[in-house]
Amino acid sequence: MNSSSNSQHRISFIPGEPVHDPERTLIFLITPTYTRPTQAADMTRLSQTLQLVPDIFWIVVEDAHNSSRSVEDLLRRTNVPYAHLLGPRPPTHLDKRSGRGVSNRLRAFEWLRENYSNTTQKGVIYFADDDNAYDVRIFEEMRSTRIVSMFPVGLISTLGLSTPIVSRKSGKIIGFHDPFIGRRKFAVDMAGFAVNLQFFLSQKKATMPYKVGYEEDYFLKSLGVQIWQLEPKAENCTQVLVWHTKTKPADQPKLSLMKKVTNYTETNLPDLYNNQLEQS
Ligand SMILES: *[C@@H]1O[C@H](CO)[C@@H](O)[C@H](O)[C@H]1NC(C)=O
Repeated sequence: MNSSSNSQHRISFIPGEPVHDPERTLIFLITPTYTRPTQAADMTRLSQTLQLVPDIFWIVVEDAHNSSRSVEDLLRRTNVPYAHLLGPRPPTHLDKRSGRGVSNRLRAFEWLRENYSNTTQKGVIYFADDDNAYDVRIFEEMRSTRIVSMFPVGLISTLGLSTPIVSRKSGKIIGFHDPFIGRRKFAVDMAGFAVNLQFFLSQKKATMPYKVGYEEDYFLKSLGVQIWQLEPKAENCTQVLVWHTKTKPADQPKLSLMKKVTNYTETNLPDLYNNQLEQS
């Protein structure tokens, strides 16, 4: 990536509207999110990473019935094209085994099909969870994805990483090295692969199941992709450019605790607490 590409590749957009730009390959980042005390910290970090990346479209989907003002404000401040959608979990899938993030991603699939089916827009789809850490180089790696590309992810449970296994001889992916293989054909993390937009759109049955641990595997199977078609990135999967960092849960400030401070009314504390509470 050359240093001038940033300013030159800024695309014009209307907040909340899809972008159609046949000249460029856009990366469609799908970020599921939900309201919690650490959300503002995670989303701020991700949004400011994305400000460094040209030619992207950010699809942020909340697991909620009403959109959050703080998320909308953050998207408006960020200056990248975006769609702010709602994808609440259906009542039938509120249990632990259904997993978070699936309803959000399914809503993003719907939106992509509504806006890009029967277009020639060049693009790549990537699941960018809000609590991961991204080296901006990963986005240029995935931009050339023809079908499905894959790359290592750092900080994955007991192995400390998850990666495709690449044959030195052929340069092809021949298997997976991941702490959890289970019954998975594609033992990869959500952050470890990207999918060509037009390929995704051509696979009408592509979907993601409500099944913790098997979301990636079933999704890739539903795309009908074969292992020999996978494209290794990040120097034949020898570099880690994305990490599954996970933010530790934290407490929300509480007005009742503020009230333990005497004479607080003539201080900054009420405003600070109210601003924090508004974000949740
Ligand atoms: C990946 O491996 C293949 C096969 O050994 C080799 O031809 C190619 O140059 C390698 N690519 C990179 C970027 O290291």
